[in-house]
Parts: sequence; C-alpha cells; structure tokens
Amino acid sequence: MIKTDLIAALVEKIQGHTARVGVVGLGYVGLPFLVEKAKVGFHVTGIDRSSERAGMVARGENYIGDVRDEDLRAVVDAGLVETTTAFDVVSQLDVIVICVPTPLDRNLTPDLSYVRSVTREIAACLRPGQLISLESTTYPGTTEDVMKPILEEGGLRAGVDFFLAYSPERVDPGNVRFTTKNTNKVVGGNDPVSLEVALAFYRQSIEHVVPVSSAKVAEMVKVYENTFRSVNIALVNELAMLCDRMNLSVWEVLDAAFTKPFGIMPFYPGPGVGGHCIPLDPHYLEWKAREYGFETRFITLAGEINRHMPEFAVNKVARLLNNQGKAIKGSRIIQLGMAYKRDVDDYRESPAIHVFEQLHKLGADISFYDPFISIVQEGSLTVEGLSKLAADDLRNADLVIITTPHTTVDYAWVLEHSKMVFDTRNATKGLTSSKITLL
Ligand SMILES: NC(=O)c1ccc[n+]([C@@H]2O[C@H](COP(=O)([O-])OP(=O)(O)OC[C@H]3O[C@@H](n4cnc5c(N)ncnc54)[C@H](O)[C@@H]3O)[C@@H](O)[C@H]2O)c1
Repeated sequence: MIKTDLIAALVEKIQGHTARVGVVGLGYVGLPFLVEKAKVGFHVTGIDRSSERAGMVARGENYIGDVRDEDLRAVVDAGLVETTTAFDVVSQLDVIVICVPTPLDRNLTPDLSYVRSVTREIAACLRPGQLISLESTTYPGTTEDVMKPILEEGGLRAGVDFFLAYSPERVDPGNVRFTTKNTNKVVGGNDPVSLEVALAFYRQSIEHVVPVSSAKVAEMVKVYENTFRSVNIALVNELAMLCDRMNLSVWEVLDAAFTKPFGIMPFYPGPGVGGHCIPLDPHYLEWKAREYGFETRFITLAGEINRHMPEFAVNKVARLLNNQGKAIKGSRIIQLGMAYKRDVDDYRESPAIHVFEQLHKLGADISFYDPFISIVQEGSLTVEGLSKLAADDLRNADLVIITTPHTTVDYAWVLEHSKMVFDTRNATKGLTSSKITLL
C-alpha cells in the first residue's frame, strides 16, 4: 500500500469509528480518555501493567473521581471496552494513546523510563498504518527525539509508514465544568501527515482541537501552562510570607486585588503545591533548558518558594502554640486534609503530607482526617486517618490545621468544637471567630 492509502484508510476508520483504539495507562488521564472514546462508539482496549486496574475497568468498576460510574459501566456493558496487561494486542490496534507517568527523580531529573518502556513494547508490535500519540506531560523533544528513534528501529518510518503525535492532557481533577470532552486540546504532529491523522482522531470526541506546527511546540505548550501556574502560585506564596511579617491578611489583599476586572488572575497561597503536575512538570523544562546553556530562573525560584511553604506553615503552628505557652512536642494536633487539592482523593506530592511529617517529627501527637482518604502510604510514611471527625477529638486537640479545603467538611461545626484553628487555605472564609488564624 502506498502512503496516501495508509492515511486514507486510517482516517476513514477513525471517522467511521471503526478504528480500534488503545489507551496505555489507566490512571487519572487514561481512564477518562478511554471512557470518552468509548462513549462516541470506538472499541477501546485499555492496557495497564496493574492487573488490579485492568481487572476493575473490565468489570466496569470505577476508581477515578472524574469518571462517572454509570458512564464506565455503560461502555463496558455495551462491549466497547476490554483491558489487558500485555502489549501483544497492540498489533490489532489502529490508534494507541499513551498516558503513563512522567515523574522526577530525587534530583529533579526527568524520569522517562515509563515512556521509554511503553514505546519499546509498542515498537515490538508496530505495523504500518498506526497512529501513536503521547499524552504524558514531558519536555519538548520527547516525542521526536526519544520515542521516534525507538519506534523506527524496526525499519518503519514516522510520517510514512506510521503516524506519531503529541497531544497534552489538560484534565483538571475535580473540575465539573471542564472535562476531557469540552477542554480545548492542543495537537502537534511529528510531521504534517501525522498531524492530519491525529487531528482526525481527536476531533471525534473533543469539542475543540487546536493544531500546532510540531510535537515539540505541543510539548512546550503543556510545560508552559504548568509553569505559569507554578510561578503565579509561588508569587502569592511569597506575598503570604511577607504579609505574615507585616501583620497584614494576604487573603484580604488578594480578594481586593482580584476585583480588578482586567490584567490580573486569581491565584491563592497555601501550604505548598501538590499533584502530579505543578510541582514536577516545570522541572522537565528546567532540565531540558540546561542542554541549551539556559537557566530557567523563574522555574527554579518558584520551585524553591513552593517547596518551602510546608515549613512556613509548620513554623506558624509553632508560633501559635507558643502563644498558648505550648510546644509542638506533645501537643495534640488534628490535620484536616491530606489530598493535594479540594474534593479529590489524590495525595501525590501533597504538601499536606510534608506538613504532617514535619509536625510528627517535631513530636506532635498528630492525626489526620480527610473525607476522601482513609490511609496515606508515601515513602516511609504509612498512616491511617480518622474514620470520622468527632466533636470530642476536636475539643481535645490543642490545634486544628486545615491543609486541604474539602467542601464536604462543615467548617462552622469544626470551629464550634475546636480550641484553635490554623487555616492554610481560607476554607473558613465567611466565618468570623477569634479562634481562626489564616496562613
Ligand atoms: N493527573 C493529572 O491531573 C494530569 C493532568 C494532565 C497531565 N497529566 C500527565 O499525564 C500522565 C499520566 O498521569 P496520571 O495522573 O494519569 O498517572 P497515573 O499514575 O494516575 O496513571 C498512570 C497509569 O499508568 C500505568 N502504567 C505505568 N507504567 C506502565 C506500563 N509500563 N505499561 C502500562 N501501564 C503502565 C499505571 O499502572 C497507572 O495506572 C503524566 O505524564 C502526567 O504528568 C496528569
């Protein structure tokens, strides 16, 4: 078959929804994507190295907050979803979307081992006429410089025999207004033909697709977006520390500043940043920039400020207890929230864990309550949370610290039963009490 036939055949299958789609990595990004694709009629195969996850999805059992249970069950019941832990199914697929983790190691160096390993697995089964699209967040150059050579090892050529694209996922866990379907999606191809095929694919289930001129541009778009958040959060975190010194309420300053109808955008301080994106992704760019003899100073500084925030929060706890003639050591503290943001069960990179660990190390008698998380297992820390928040526990605590502003917690009730509340997230906004201290 000549190249144009390969393109036409794949685009026709995509437009007729007869293309078989594979999603590698059934996590926060991959599972919602799988469901969206199946909802528009594609037969989708989920590949995950976790047999537990593969089994749950195959049975229609949901474990991701942004996926509606009934949506997953409906596409499974309709026979549109199958799952596996093995990659030999890849040869039967027309489109393969990769959504595996892209963490950093302890030295803030990108760890592309997941992307590399999955690419090798796909390369072993690659056949002409397939589209491979990477969705994991990464530095500019990953698709073309890391994935393409591996995929071409068997002799097939990107843009000629198979198609290669990068399309960053923008999912915002817990956001009910913007979901995978109605969030604009940026798509970059390794070459114009790959872009054309990838656009045809993404347009089937996503309302607005934004083409860019290369995979590298699309990769840069994603890291820029997350760097933008990291830097702006660091700016308000720095302001919060200054306001603390100056005895001003940063929250009052920000509320007033954000009444400006143009030229400003709301960002709020807190005990740090968490999740699989903001604390990590900017460092992918920082690392890549060094290859060009370029220092990304905003990224470095923002990372430093944001990573310092748990310590700042702990210092403030020490001051609050000190004012009562108490030390952290031996004080009873209840921490509200372990998730990295409100109304999600994800505690990866959560600053709340750092706050908890530091207070624990300093000798506090500390326990946590999070309506979304019953147990935290992170590094050497394994700790079970309180199964419910009891008025007696609050009354017996010297201090309650709010680290995640979950909306299902009744903060007026917490306040009523607590001696002292340190609110790092302004979760108590609208409540007035001398018991509250804000970050
Ligand atoms: N979570 C978010 O909010 C978010 C938003 C946008 C982009 N991203 C990016 O998307 C990517 C995936 O993130 P996530 O949050 O969905 O991760 P996740 O940890 O929730 O899911 C990753 C999945 O990949 C599976 N996996 C790992 N190695 C595998 C392998 N070799 N073969 C098959 N499966 C494998 C894991 O078992 C897991 O189920 C990351 O690059 C992340 O930066 C995440």
